[in-house]
Amino acid sequence: MTTQERPPGDEHGPEKLIRTDVPHSARIYNYWLGGKDHFDIDRVIGEQVVQAEPEMVAMMRHNRAFLRRAVDHLVRERGIRQFLDIGTGLPVADNTHEVAQRAAPESRIVYVDNDPVVLAHAKALLTSSLEGATDYIDADLREPHEILSAAAKTLELGEPVAVMLLGVLNHIAEDAEALAIVRTLMDALVPGSHLVISVNTNVLKPENMNRAAAAYNEAFGNPPIYLSTPERLAAFFEGMEMVDPGLVPAARWNPVAADAPFEDETSDMDLYVGVGRKP
Ligand SMILES: C[S@@+](CC[C@H](N)C(=O)[O-])C[C@H]1O[C@@H](n2cnc3c(N)ncnc32)[C@H](O)[C@@H]1O
Repeated sequence: MTTQERPPGDEHGPEKLIRTDVPHSARIYNYWLGGKDHFDIDRVIGEQVVQAEPEMVAMMRHNRAFLRRAVDHLVRERGIRQFLDIGTGLPVADNTHEVAQRAAPESRIVYVDNDPVVLAHAKALLTSSLEGATDYIDADLREPHEILSAAAKTLELGEPVAVMLLGVLNHIAEDAEALAIVRTLMDALVPGSHLVISVNTNVLKPENMNRAAAAYNEAFGNPPIYLSTPERLAAFFEGMEMVDPGLVPAARWNPVAADAPFEDETSDMDLYVGVGRKP
């Protein structure tokens, strides 16, 4: 895709034009995950971040492995059949609907992202099983009411829903705003609904993580990344029942052998995760 090309099917204004001369967070993330949807500028910035925190690529791999395990657990052990995945990212292996529908083909999934690059690739997210359904909403997490009303076209909001916020809350500057967004989403959902979050922190290797975030933000900063802490992550789950083992680095959330860290990696990376149930 060339500079300023409009994504197929996009009816939005000029602000939605795709740029290939500025980095995109979704494309950098895709580069780290070994995908093929990135440009020179994304690779350059991606490498600068990795120089600051060499564990970044492993961290993102563990983020996806956590997504897989959490979705599988929610479907198989907790009977969840509906997912609202906000801050979806570019399609890669084992997207939420693929993991959920492998376990329960009738699962319904709504994806939400505000990046035109993700919108351009959304077709790959709409490959639902016949028994289930998937939809994609081009919307901003900061507009939870709009997200909920659009999601209601595909999801039955009178039944439990799992809200997935993986790697996206780091893009909301103010804790109070992020908390209000999460509360609005969860208040609209029935008991038995779940909340799944992953955030990058700066508590285990603060120097590396702060340098990595600075490299990322100096490069473009739209949206910038704000690092979090396990304590701030805990605030999102206030009033909820935590699913074992609680808030932990991603690789420690119900690990399975297939997702184990490689020999030269630790399990304790600055990526904390948690799953909670609305009582
Ligand atoms: C690091 S990626 C995470 C992708 C996926 N959730 C995962 O964990 O594998 C963050 C995604 O959040 C999206 N994003 C950032 N800010 C957003 C916002 N305000 N509203 C919706 N999506 C947003 C970005 O476009 C990007 O695709």
